[in-house]
Amino acid sequence: MSNVFPLPQPVRFASGVAARDAWPLDPAVVHLNHGSFGAVLTEVGEYQDALRRESDRNPVGWYPRVAERVREARGAIAGFVGATADDTVFVPNASAAATVVFNSLRLEAGDEILVTDHGYGAITMGARRLAARFGARLRTLEIPLAATDPEILELFRTAITPHTRLIVVDQITSPTARTFPTREITDLAHTRGVRVLVDGAHAPGLVADAVAVGGGDWWFGNLHKWPGAPRGSALLVTRAADRDELWPLIDSWGANEPYPGRFDSQGTMDATSYLASPLAVEAIEREYGWVRTRQTMAELADAGARLIGDAMASMVSGEAVADVAAPVPSMRLVRLPDGLGLHREDADDLRMQMYDELGVETAFTSFRGIGYFRLSVHLYTTTDDFQAFVDKCVPSILRKAESRRIGAA
Ligand SMILES: Cc1ncc(COP(=O)(O)O)c(C=O)c1O
Repeated sequence: MSNVFPLPQPVRFASGVAARDAWPLDPAVVHLNHGSFGAVLTEVGEYQDALRRESDRNPVGWYPRVAERVREARGAIAGFVGATADDTVFVPNASAAATVVFNSLRLEAGDEILVTDHGYGAITMGARRLAARFGARLRTLEIPLAATDPEILELFRTAITPHTRLIVVDQITSPTARTFPTREITDLAHTRGVRVLVDGAHAPGLVADAVAVGGGDWWFGNLHKWPGAPRGSALLVTRAADRDELWPLIDSWGANEPYPGRFDSQGTMDATSYLASPLAVEAIEREYGWVRTRQTMAELADAGARLIGDAMASMVSGEAVADVAAPVPSMRLVRLPDGLGLHREDADDLRMQMYDELGVETAFTSFRGIGYFRLSVHLYTTTDDFQAFVDKCVPSILRKAESRRIGAA
């Protein structure tokens, strides 16, 4: 490996296990996209399997008590995001949380929902559908990639109009892997009578006390991303005075209860992802500590971005590692050669090509017509993974860019 700067050593857990061995990830594949779908800790997956076996052995012993166990689980995990159990409900994923909130809102014709051009596409689509239901309008606020927090606040200050009813804004953005000052945006919006939905899908684990820091009238975040919990586990948190307007996506036996209890019953559903989530939070704390995890992620992400950025530098215009002004601990944007990642579909195609052709899990994003490799690291990531990207993906990306250039000429 021809590097001239120190590279982080592989992480070892308190129990002596190499972090890489604490996840069941396929060793034949290079994993550099934790951000999209997370990765479930082996210990947590095994616990979830045991819970499923328990439910299969004695369905009558299991299902009538599930709501009670879900309530206990939200009690055990709410503190991790800086919330209380009374304000917190489990939902299957971030998209579901947004749907629950959108379903509860009534707008008037001519009202406006404000989103940003860093927003997650599927959530923005939900906001657009909400607007369409009431003859309202969706407006997209454009925020430069490297805007500072004060600049972002100023953009919101001028974007809010007397018609604005709702702002949907990300605490950590997906295509651009940066933080937004959502608490300050909430405070500003409230002075203008506007409500704020904070998309904190990436925030649990990456931001300590994510809800407390993130603000919002409603906040949601995924546990199956950075905390390493089973898929299908997310939290919705709100103290809004009208929170009894929020309903779970499945009408069930909790219907006569107020928020949050009504979300604990969801018919005969497999709730083991919720029940196993507190163990994921506990396991990382026990084995490595969450504060240290964020520090190590940042060291790894910086080293990886530098190594990969150096390898890409000759192929890209401008800085290889993008300046996003407020980076998160675990993700970095490395610029792709001109012509690649022109739009989301193009970026997604490249992701599947890297996986199918080279056995490397990646994420590519597109922002304002420029493509980026969105590097994700977690405690299991090693510098060998970065080198594998350099050795396998960089030449392939170069060839693809060159053939596009020739095709376009
Ligand atoms: C910012 C953001 N919001 C929402 C989502 C949707 O999450 P899910 O697919 O778990 O519903 C994601 C997923 O990556 C995301 O990054």
